Amino acid sequence: MTEFGINTPPETGAFLPRDRNWHPPAFTPTYKTSVVRAPQKALISFDNSLSEVTGPRFGHNLIGPNDNDLIINFARPGEMAIGQRIIVHGRVLDERGRPVPGVLVEYWQANAGGRYRHKKEGYQAALDPNFGGCGRSITAEDGSYWFRTVKPGAYPWPNGVNDWRPAHIHFSVFGSGFAQRLITQMYFEGDPMLKLCPIVNTIADPAAIEALVAPLDMSNTVPMDARAYKFDIILRGRRSTPFENRREGN
Ligand SMILES: [Fe+2]
Repeated sequence: MTEFGINTPPETGAFLPRDRNWHPPAFTPTYKTSVVRAPQKALISFDNSLSEVTGPRFGHNLIGPNDNDLIINFARPGEMAIGQRIIVHGRVLDERGRPVPGVLVEYWQANAGGRYRHKKEGYQAALDPNFGGCGRSITAEDGSYWFRTVKPGAYPWPNGVNDWRPAHIHFSVFGSGFAQRLITQMYFEGDPMLKLCPIVNTIADPAAIEALVAPLDMSNTVPMDARAYKFDIILRGRRSTPFENRREGN
């Protein structure tokens, strides 16, 4: 019996079942738009088929030389984005701690003033003509990725009467199979807006929130240039490594 009251056999597919107590529930009325987005019917679990076990493969030739440098990838020649210069780096791992190489990591964010470059953006903070706000990387053999950007600003949004998003960077990650696809957000250590955010507060487990907060990483700071933040991303675990004929431990 699942938490949704549906009798389904336990998942035995290639990937471990998703922990629905770790991820926020779909229906969270304090985050208003979740009300219309949430499924109306109970969920049903089923085993992974080929469409979940497999996924697109991304070669390194997909990535341009400045795709992981948001300070210059949209800037006019010789100019740079305005803001606090930071490096974001980490590793993409699965739930069992194994690196996931060759993964497309895409990221997008508001500029230093908290403004997105989007036609539906309504916040009055100024656009930065030299900041586009998006980039991408492919993870290396050890699952690592990194990019350079400016620290995004907090911004207000129409939810409650005075709700603000903490500074954050959005991430989309394609794993080795569609079952690992993850859309998430990274926050910054020490941000007082975190505990006030209705979206952050849809997450029940404080440890799960902590996993979204990137600590300041002075050991990877570039002196006189940019501070670093470390953000590891954990995808669903495979029961066995790809292309392996036996389960681990057998
Ligand atoms: Fe955002």
